Amino acid sequence: MSLLLGVNIDHVATLRQARYALLPDSPNAEPSPLDAALDALAGGADSITIHVRADRRHMQDRDAFEVRAGCPLPLNLEMGVTAEMLSLALSLKPDFACLVPETREEVTTEGGLDVAGRIEEVRRCVGTLREAGIRVSLFIDPDGHQIEAAGEVGAEMIELHTGCFANAEGDEVEAEVNRLIEASRMAAGMDLQVNAGHGINYRNLDRLFAVPFLTEWNIGHSIVSRAIRVGMEQAVREMKAAMAAYPF
Ligand code: PXP
Repeated sequence: MSLLLGVNIDHVATLRQARYALLPDSPNAEPSPLDAALDALAGGADSITIHVRADRRHMQDRDAFEVRAGCPLPLNLEMGVTAEMLSLALSLKPDFACLVPETREEVTTEGGLDVAGRIEEVRRCVGTLREAGIRVSLFIDPDGHQIEAAGEVGAEMIELHTGCFANAEGDEVEAEVNRLIEASRMAAGMDLQVNAGHGINYRNLDRLFAVPFLTEWNIGHSIVSRAIRVGMEQAVREMKAAMAAYPF
């Protein structure tokens, strides 16, 4: 099966919030995350990802419900492991939930979720989501302890954090790719679905073709940036075309 593309549209909301955060009901508030999701669908996206953060810096709850109701693609909700987000997920009922770490100060998600260090809390959250029929992924670093812990808490999927890979330079790139290869092998051997995301762009994606067993990539910033030049539909089409060369 070919590699799937989950398009993260958070930064469409970032652009709207830059002007309309204090005027949420303005009839001029744009751009619309739902329109972006529908354009991503037209470009060949396989799913849509949104991250409703505790500080609501980009996606608002209303966006999540509008995308859920108006876009037929599977919806992946990235969420912190908190009672507030659990309650949002249970009423939104996305197809997938990806549990991520979250701190207010970070610019974007930095580092994977410390599943090994928060095992009971994560297990409870995974259990509640799964009982509600939501498939659960854990966003983790390519680290054996975290992968073992992901298996212990009953998640079906992991999303390997590719941020260190994306920020690496020179010889470090190969070392990061090798970490991802080992992690992916280990997780696939435990029957976990393996996804990847963070910092993947049109220039670095081919280095990730060495990583086996990947099912889906979640990509946001680079696609939204490209969309400013060529439109969302075309930006997604270009990414899907590039990903078609994934050899596994
Ligand atoms: N996956 C996760 C878990 C993320 O938190 C993010 C960023 O919101 C992404 C993927 C997408 O990262 P990027 O915007 O760098 O493509």
